[in-house]
Amino acid sequence: MKKKLIAGNWKMNGSLAANEALIRGLLAGLGTPAGQVALCVPAVYLAQCQALLAGTGLDLGAQNVSEHEAGAYTGEISAAMLRDFGVRYCLVGHSERRQYHGESDGVVALKALRALASGITPIVCVGETLAEREAGKTEEVVRRQLAAVIHANGHCISEIVLAYEPVWAIGTGKTASTEQAQQVHAVLRAQLKAATAQADRIHILYGGSMNAANAAQLLAQPDIDGGLVGGASLKAPDFLSIIASAV
Ligand code: 13P
Repeated sequence: MKKKLIAGNWKMNGSLAANEALIRGLLAGLGTPAGQVALCVPAVYLAQCQALLAGTGLDLGAQNVSEHEAGAYTGEISAAMLRDFGVRYCLVGHSERRQYHGESDGVVALKALRALASGITPIVCVGETLAEREAGKTEEVVRRQLAAVIHANGHCISEIVLAYEPVWAIGTGKTASTEQAQQVHAVLRAQLKAATAQADRIHILYGGSMNAANAAQLLAQPDIDGGLVGGASLKAPDFLSIIASAV
């Protein structure tokens, strides 16, 4: 069975001092986790976190990557640049990028392609809004978002990590029920199976108000292979307890 993957998404939080305290707190309490652990940190702190995580077994992640390879794209960061800092994972198509930065399904698919081409595993995020769920469109929306990534990446799709993050559950304290989450994960798994014979080895993470109290139950579902954790990844004790739930 594949190991679970717990990825922290720090979003736009942190400082040199806070990052160091958080990572030192995690390392002090970590022991030997059963699963894999990654921290997706703001780009300006990649060098700092690369140094702090070196030799620890925790993987470094970024939160975004340009869909372009290189050139006149002021303010953007390429996959090759991320790779220079030892980045192993990169979030792609987080709902906050889709919502506030206008990232379309097509752009998200290209970002996944760029990451893979540089040897970085994209963590592709999909998820429906509350209005879409209430309109009965959850499956249609997540299938459309994933289809774009499958279409652009062909057989390399088996190299991605997928994250289901219902938008209404992000930062709201409203977690999807285990049944709601497992149901969507099963839909996504079936879609991946139609695209690749390797679908069972793809991690499908759940994200959206995952915390120390609900992680174990979510992570016990057959198609939930890990978590993508926002707020609770900023507090060492909470994140450690989620990591400990990933058995
Ligand atoms: P919260 O865990 O804060 O709800 O955030 C989830 C998320 O967006 C992780 O990418």
